Amino acid sequence: MNQTIEILRKRKSVREYENREVSAEVRAEILNATLRAPTAGNLTLYSILEVTDQSLKDKLVTTCDSQPFIATAPMVWIFLADYQRWYDYFHVSGVEELCAQQGIPMLKPEEGDLFLACCDALIAAQTAVVAAEALGLGSCYIGDIIENYETHRDIFNLPPYTFPIGMVVFGYPTQTQKERIQTPRFDQKFIVFENQYRSLDRDEFNEMFFERQKFISKNKIAEGIDTFGKATYLRKFSAEYSAEMRRSVREMLKVWKK
Ligand SMILES: Cc1cc2nc3c(=O)[nH]c(=O)nc-3n(C[C@H](O)[C@H](O)[C@H](O)COP(=O)(O)O)c2cc1C
Repeated sequence: MNQTIEILRKRKSVREYENREVSAEVRAEILNATLRAPTAGNLTLYSILEVTDQSLKDKLVTTCDSQPFIATAPMVWIFLADYQRWYDYFHVSGVEELCAQQGIPMLKPEEGDLFLACCDALIAAQTAVVAAEALGLGSCYIGDIIENYETHRDIFNLPPYTFPIGMVVFGYPTQTQKERIQTPRFDQKFIVFENQYRSLDRDEFNEMFFERQKFISKNKIAEGIDTFGKATYLRKFSAEYSAEMRRSVREMLKVWKK
């Protein structure tokens, strides 16, 4: 099998790390590969905030829904959607005066710009994940960085037109993690459509979740809950962390909508 395809197909999230630092050379390789990720308009609408201070990693454990393994990861990168750099540069390069001369208002970044910046940041994040994987490191996304906007803004000194859209923690996988079986995926026919979107019917959902149900009950995640739909609604969609995520994003959007 092609080596890149093999890396992609064998990847899994890693949440337990060997007590081993990431060398400066390996870090540089990952970073250089990451910075080659595609970026909308070649604008680099993201920043990477590397968290090296152990007390900040410890704080992230709490602010990201109590996930202790964050504190044990030797490398922690927060991917910020970032329009602040361009907005600052527009000011520095005289856009305000230009707009005044032309009698037009100087625009501020809005939600659409945020979406594009989020695309950039996440594409960079996934590039880092793949580069790390190629060098023997495991990684795990921490989506909960989207929560607690105000706290993260304050502890990381984030200016208004930035938003931490993803965090990835990296480290060398322990033997147990290396041996852990991969999580299942849905069959392609439920995920890939041709030309037109198609909603699934009850039978298709039953078929789609048949394999997943076995995986879930084996992992005792859905004990006492008879469908994966109910379990997922309770564990994910209506969970406390989801409520906090929604609140946090609403708060952040107030800044971008001003
Ligand atoms: C956007 C995003 C957010 C995630 N957030 C977390 C998280 O906060 N904690 C965690 O342990 N895993 C997190 N993950 C990892 C997923 O749980 C994992 O990718 C999924 O269960 C599939 O497992 P696999 O990556 O091993 O194939 C996240 C993944 C993504 C893409």
